[in-house]
Amino acid sequence: MLRARVALNPASVVAPVSRRTFGSFVEHMGRCVYTGIYEPGHPLADEDGFRTDVLALARELGVTMVRYPGGNFVSGYRWEDGVGPVADRPRRRDLAWRSIETNEVGIDEFAKWAEKADVEIMYAVNLGTRGVQEALDVHEYINHPEGTHLSELRRANGAEKPYGIKLWCLGNELDGPWQTGHKTPEEYGLLAAATARALRSAEPDLELVACGSSSSIMPTFGSWESTLLEHAYDVVDYVSCHAYYEEHDGDLGSFLASAVDMDHFVNSIVATADAVGARLKSKKKINLSFDEWNVWYLSRFQSAPLPKEWEVAPRVIEDQYNVADAVVVGSLLISLLRHSDRVTAACQAQLVNVIAPIMTEPGGPAWRQTIFHPFARTAALAKGDVLRLEIQSPVYSTEKYGEAPVIDAVATHDPATGDVVVFAVNRDQEQSVEFAVDLRAFGDDLTVAEAWTLTDDDVRATNTKDDPDRVTMQPLTGIALGGGDNGGGGDVTLTLPRISWSAIRLTRV
Ligand code: AHR
Repeated sequence: MLRARVALNPASVVAPVSRRTFGSFVEHMGRCVYTGIYEPGHPLADEDGFRTDVLALARELGVTMVRYPGGNFVSGYRWEDGVGPVADRPRRRDLAWRSIETNEVGIDEFAKWAEKADVEIMYAVNLGTRGVQEALDVHEYINHPEGTHLSELRRANGAEKPYGIKLWCLGNELDGPWQTGHKTPEEYGLLAAATARALRSAEPDLELVACGSSSSIMPTFGSWESTLLEHAYDVVDYVSCHAYYEEHDGDLGSFLASAVDMDHFVNSIVATADAVGARLKSKKKINLSFDEWNVWYLSRFQSAPLPKEWEVAPRVIEDQYNVADAVVVGSLLISLLRHSDRVTAACQAQLVNVIAPIMTEPGGPAWRQTIFHPFARTAALAKGDVLRLEIQSPVYSTEKYGEAPVIDAVATHDPATGDVVVFAVNRDQEQSVEFAVDLRAFGDDLTVAEAWTLTDDDVRATNTKDDPDRVTMQPLTGIALGGGDNGGGGDVTLTLPRISWSAIRLTRV
């Protein structure tokens, strides 16, 4: 049996868990909005046309914040098309996903949905085909209290109070040649800085996210952020990161180690931002907003052309996730939590139907994909402080990332309740691993309150409309608790099944 170990210490704190780590993303893309969150004719639709089954699942998922309205979509979007009487709203081409946007849902509808889902909105402005003025306009509509043309328009449209959105993205993936309005780092840096300055004159305490790299393999990775921040350091708060992972050519070993790339991504951009800060002699720190991350079988999408016909809400990138995908999603959450000192916002992309934890059928049911489970457990259990861990783990060799640890883990400690939670992934494809967790620094009265694992003999198993609960979390067995005087544990040994993601909550006896 393989063995790994770690010692936890309540004094070794990375940072508090940021609730914004559990963000998601709703883009006007495919069936995320239409027949995803919104389907007026559906038997379970509420008075505003929102699917209550999807709302219930979004709440169960534990989503805290949702980025809206795109994505690539936003780079050609006119926000004003989506406000006012629905019958008067124009149908437009969406060039990003080659589909028709009916504009039945716009910011007023989405804000209603967000209130029902109890999530914060992260709003992205179009800096692809538009600029400073339009960003100011949409900000005036959304956040200005009253007494101006656009704030009064919002009030006339039924929203008397401003929405008070704090977190704003300055465009989307403008480093990518696929983006409508793609820019050079210099062009984007100047535009982001000018837009940020203007938005701040309207509302000084906004939190502004400048677009960073669309992936760590972009040719401008690092230099994009450096140039951007040379221009915008003082006026933005975050740089965004986007990363999607998939299994290439049956290389499961590399795929399971995807979080190695996420760690590298975060460490590189933190170092880049801090280097610019040093050059500028600034005391300010730029944080990271990992506002698109997930498993996405992008190569399948790239090899299949977008629909020829211009359709409303076509089925686009409706990836069906298996057990291995869910284990990777769990391990990416471990990476995000580990970096909680600098990654203080993150969005899994996307929420419904489009590379999503929640699937729906028009007029039919909604169900949880495999990747729903690690997200929901992490969002529910990660509370208090993230602890710094030094894990001693065997390593294995991967095609893409060299040697990767078999076991990766993160832990949280909630000083309010005393609860300690360990999230752990076993990447070994054959064997269980005995993972010894030394808890002596917490005293001897911790005992296991709950322990869950996501694993399966068939790592390709998926959840479908007809078998929606084929893959769920199972109780983790084989836990040995020892070392305490009163039945509690000075340490706990977990037997982590092969290719698994697990969450264990320990509480005071
Ligand atoms: O989430 C799907 C797409 O991935 C987004 O529209 C874009 O920002 C990214 O490339």
